[in-house]
Amino acid sequence: MKIFLDTANIEQIKEAAELGVIDGVTTNPTLIAREKRNFVDLVREIYEIVDGPISAEVVSLEASGMIDEAQRLAKLGKNIAIKIPMTEEGLKAVKALSFEGIMTNVTLCFSPAQGLLAAKAGATFLSPFIGRLDDVSHEGMNLVRTIKQIYANYGYKTQIIVASIRHPLHVLEAATAGADIATVPFDVLKKLLKHPLTDIGIDRFLQDWQKLTDKEKAF
Ligand code: E4P
Repeated sequence: MKIFLDTANIEQIKEAAELGVIDGVTTNPTLIAREKRNFVDLVREIYEIVDGPISAEVVSLEASGMIDEAQRLAKLGKNIAIKIPMTEEGLKAVKALSFEGIMTNVTLCFSPAQGLLAAKAGATFLSPFIGRLDDVSHEGMNLVRTIKQIYANYGYKTQIIVASIRHPLHVLEAATAGADIATVPFDVLKKLLKHPLTDIGIDRFLQDWQKLTDKEKAF
């Protein structure tokens, strides 16, 4: 499973990229607004750091406006994926952009039917929002499992990005469900790599190492 970072924060992206486990980045208007910087400058900078798809979201509600924004954003580079909301107008835009060879990421997906339509329209990526479903007492990961089954039944190539991830268990469940990608907030990425027994183990090894003489330690 690929791991994308779900942030527009440059420091977080740099730190995560150094770990060597980041395959792309997803942003949305909320994440962009947190950074208080020009949108395009920010996306361009992210593009320079990460070698993989970078999702940038349109804000128009009509297909023509979405297509116009998408075409301008796509000029930033071939790895830009245009996030399009799962609406009637959004589907029209996805269809048009897929003909132009521009990558799309259909966002705000909350049902299998939406996932099916996004794939039929030619979406490159689909983002089911797991945490927001859990927030309203729906088992979010069931949505991923069902969409995965639908895509397998008919051979749709649309890649599932598990989004709205809240904790490490969501990432593990996404991998178990066979999702193509999980997009994770920075704090969740950090939690994924930690285990207290690892830290205890390192302490113990170092303590034991100190019991050796200098001659025994030499290498
Ligand atoms: C990513 O593509 C989504 O925009 C993001 O995961 C949404 O997460 P949230 O529900 O925590 O805002």
